[in-house]
Amino acid sequence: MPDTLTIIDNRTGQQYEVPIAHATYPEYGSYIRAADLKKVKSSPTDFGLLSYDPAFMNTASCRSSVTFIDGDRGILRYRGYPIEELAAKSNFLEVAYLLLWGELPTQTQLDEWTHWVKMHTMVHENIKKFIDGFHHDAHPMGMLVSAMAALSTFYPESKNVLDPAVRKQQIYRLIAKIPTVSAYAYRHSQGLPYVYPDNDLNYVGNFLNMMFKMTEVKYTPDPVLERALNVLFILHADHEQNCSANAMRSVGSSQADPYVSLASAASALYGPLHGGANEMVLRMLRQIGSKDKVADYMKRVKAGEFKLMGFGHRVYKNYDPRAKILKEMAMQVFEVTGKNPLLDMALELERIALEDDYFVSRKLYPNVDFYSGLIYQAMKFPVDMFPVLFAIPRTAGWLAQWQELLEDGEQKIARPRQIYTGEDTRSYVAMQKRAEAATRTEATPALM
Ligand code: CMC
Repeated sequence: MPDTLTIIDNRTGQQYEVPIAHATYPEYGSYIRAADLKKVKSSPTDFGLLSYDPAFMNTASCRSSVTFIDGDRGILRYRGYPIEELAAKSNFLEVAYLLLWGELPTQTQLDEWTHWVKMHTMVHENIKKFIDGFHHDAHPMGMLVSAMAALSTFYPESKNVLDPAVRKQQIYRLIAKIPTVSAYAYRHSQGLPYVYPDNDLNYVGNFLNMMFKMTEVKYTPDPVLERALNVLFILHADHEQNCSANAMRSVGSSQADPYVSLASAASALYGPLHGGANEMVLRMLRQIGSKDKVADYMKRVKAGEFKLMGFGHRVYKNYDPRAKILKEMAMQVFEVTGKNPLLDMALELERIALEDDYFVSRKLYPNVDFYSGLIYQAMKFPVDMFPVLFAIPRTAGWLAQWQELLEDGEQKIARPRQIYTGEDTRSYVAMQKRAEAATRTEATPALM
């Protein structure tokens, strides 16, 4: 049987053969090239058939070997490794290496990688002045996005994105500096002095040091909390072609430098439907107030008043595997920190949702953001910092996606098509005739 799709255009009776290509394994899907549809024309002057897919519901924008998700079965793998194994056995820097370079590192490779990341943890002193310029209650995510974009001005050579050596240097810098900039944003919002990196500590321990060190000479992270944050960072490191990865690839496709590209990705992450959802979960739980009010709140969700934050996913139509790991880990963290008082409400929300036909029929399950916020809060991170805590590890994924894009000979500047719905050609209307025309078309009220 030929691997082709036969299209018959009923407008013309014309028949077309379009090749079907396959992903690496048959169960990963097959595809046609949208450009092949262009030859389907109703007349020689016709532009050709387009596929219309707002929000990319069924459009692959790239071929990628970084992350695999099977949303129906609740599977997530980085470079083939199940997320459950990585969360149980690995640490964030090792996973970042895996995402970026494709294989788990040998001990020598991991030592080198760790060394070079540590060599780049400091940021230019002017970044402190830059952050000082923000208002005391500026959202840390706004500070992070701006400061990451500002780093571009310190490394003008980073514009040379087609040079693999230059790219590698910026990858070290970005992975190393984003915890420092993030912690600075937090310290500024608290009116606390900035804490310099401590390279005796590991990646996550050093971040905790820059966040929480007070007057002690040396900060020692709690091992349970350090491990928990490592796991959280592993779970958030990549998630294939989500909104922010798509922003990274889209901006990166114009060959903008990685600092401004990453600032765009972080901006996309900030939205409440994406990485901002963990913050919204906490705000929602606080708004509900107590366990006995959960059922009423759910009625309002079902009536369409608002969405249940931390529930639902474009790709997962099953329990998000990351949420499963976090639910278990939350209990370990609470043994150290004491139970988060919002936990009972969260469990009640989940219990009702998993039994309720509204959620069941729509396949709405808890996503990664549902439990992460409860853990972050128990660890004393303020709610405003939650999306920042998502952005730090996701930097590895964004850079892996960016690198793959630049090495992909098929990629060009991202430039979707549109279905034009506006006016056909018309002649310029002189000013004195325009008011009359506007009244006729009722355009004026929309301008008021
Ligand atoms: N609460 C209530 N109803 C929901 C929810 C929700 N959280 N999510 C989806 N629905 C309903 C939606 O109203 C629609 O119902 P109907 O068919 O009656 O119109 C149906 O489920 C399908 O939803 P959709 O909006 O078409 O789904 P989507 O794929 O466009 O949206 C989503 C995915 C994640 C944006 C959405 O589920 C949502 O807004 N969730 C809440 C925000 C959230 O937790 N975001 C974090 C996502 S995970 C972290 C990340 O990767 O960024």
